[in-house]
Amino acid sequence: MSPKFWQRRKSSPADEPLLLLPEKMPQHVAIIMDGNGRWAQKRGLPRTFGHKAGAEVLRSILTDASELGIKYLTAYAFSTENWRRPHDEVDFLMDLFSTYLDNEVDALIAQQVKLRFIGSQERLSPALCQRIAEAEKRTAAGTGITLNLAVDYGGRAEIVRAARLLAQDVLDGQRAVSEIDESLFSEYLFTQGQPDPDLLIRPGGDLRISNFLLWQLAYAELWVTDVLWPDFTPAEFRRAIRDYQKRDRRFGGLTPQK
Ligand code: FPP
Repeated sequence: MSPKFWQRRKSSPADEPLLLLPEKMPQHVAIIMDGNGRWAQKRGLPRTFGHKAGAEVLRSILTDASELGIKYLTAYAFSTENWRRPHDEVDFLMDLFSTYLDNEVDALIAQQVKLRFIGSQERLSPALCQRIAEAEKRTAAGTGITLNLAVDYGGRAEIVRAARLLAQDVLDGQRAVSEIDESLFSEYLFTQGQPDPDLLIRPGGDLRISNFLLWQLAYAELWVTDVLWPDFTPAEFRRAIRDYQKRDRRFGGLTPQK
């Protein structure tokens, strides 16, 4: 499908066309999918209904991101801290990830999506790990957007893991200490080979990073909305991108840089 870079949306302020500039499109967008529980509770429903609705929203945002020509979308689906939630909620989320893989992979292949899971798989069930491996393999040839799903992911854990892997390579004589710089270190992260996120979107209103992509978000532009994730729409997504396109990104210098 050819990318549409602007379109009129009824929900945009004063019904103005939402003009997005292709040359300023973020390459990589990261999203903290927050507010599912509150969304469900506001409706008198169990929190799990919010997660189910949230999974559907992810599908629509992935499609929109792909149409806009965004190359990487990283979505925080389960943190290293989320294991502290009630067993029923954790079990529901694990089942939701499995069902998502069962139901979505054919559509992802048709959309040329490359699916990657980032995070530890040590605490996931063998059945889920097997589904993840199959899904990654089946979508590996995707030439479109890469979807990184962060599951049992923590930014600190990722950095510690990278440090261990690098230290082991030094001990094995594969690397010299003098070679270690930011670029080499990045190669030991789950996002190896990918550009850092340009934009972090956080629905749900909280003003924190929550242990997400701590290394990679160093210069990301932050965009927060009170809208809860299950209510998040492609129109909202495009508003975030429009605002991003108006930012001056100076990366610590004095003049805007690309
Ligand atoms: C945070 O909202 C959300 C999560 C811990 C789970 C996010 C998972 C999804 C949106 C499902 C994604 C699904 C697939 C299949 C990839 P919260 O529960 O903390 O909300 P609250 O802040 O309102 O309590």
